[in-house]
Amino acid sequence: MQEETFPGDARVLDGRSAPQGADAPILDNKHVKTSYARWAPIYDLVFALVLRPGRKAAAAAGERPGGRVLDVGVGTGLELPMFDRRTRLIGVDLSEPMLRRAQHRVSSKALRNVEGLGVMDATRLAFPDGHFDAVVAPYVLTVVPDPEASLDELVRVVKPGGEIILVNHVGAASGPMAWIEAWLGTRSADLGWRPQFPWSILGDWIGSNPQVRLLERRSLPPFGLFTLARIMRL
Ligand SMILES: C[S@@+](CC[C@H](N)C(=O)[O-])C[C@H]1O[C@@H](n2cnc3c(N)ncnc32)[C@H](O)[C@@H]1O
Repeated sequence: MQEETFPGDARVLDGRSAPQGADAPILDNKHVKTSYARWAPIYDLVFALVLRPGRKAAAAAGERPGGRVLDVGVGTGLELPMFDRRTRLIGVDLSEPMLRRAQHRVSSKALRNVEGLGVMDATRLAFPDGHFDAVVAPYVLTVVPDPEASLDELVRVVKPGGEIILVNHVGAASGPMAWIEAWLGTRSADLGWRPQFPWSILGDWIGSNPQVRLLERRSLPPFGLFTLARIMRL
């Protein structure tokens, strides 16, 4: 697996989407890597089943038989076997321990349609413009330190007419769940994800980007906790 150097590792968020408390440590690439090195050995045990509906929905919306699809934040590769085998897949992730598990899954399940897995930062994808027919990113946007910069990069690598398919937990606007998420938000850097993720982060980005249009926004199980968004590159 080719390790890239990420000058962005030392970069702090510019404040566009830093909803944590002012004193909370900032979720940056270093924290993400540390956190997912810890999660990697138990990730499938904890998250395989509970997050399965979103992965299935993302794969169903993202598959392009005969086409090329990028899976950003592929993690341990749980969604890879869910795609039609004629869809050519490339998976990238910041965490090498997570990717090693994805590589094992690809080999053990003989997923010959997976053309490559590599360490890469969602904000600095080493692909040319318009290279993919679709990009999927299940359960990733709340984890990447800079969601807007990642979205900009996802749009760059997808073809005009292609889609970006996201699945995320969208934070509660009010009530007890919002309080819990606000408290958890102060622990974002340690958790390796951002519990507070209002729809406005995505909505504002879509609204301010003339290159994209929201095609679909749908609630997903369990309990409608997750949201699938399909965004078309115009
Ligand atoms: C919650 S996991 C989701 C993994 C997989 N998509 C799934 O459904 O199980 C989030 C993944 O995003 C990766 N990630 C976080 N920030 C990233 C970034 N800037 N670039 C690429 N991957 C990133 C993490 O390393 C982690 O593997």
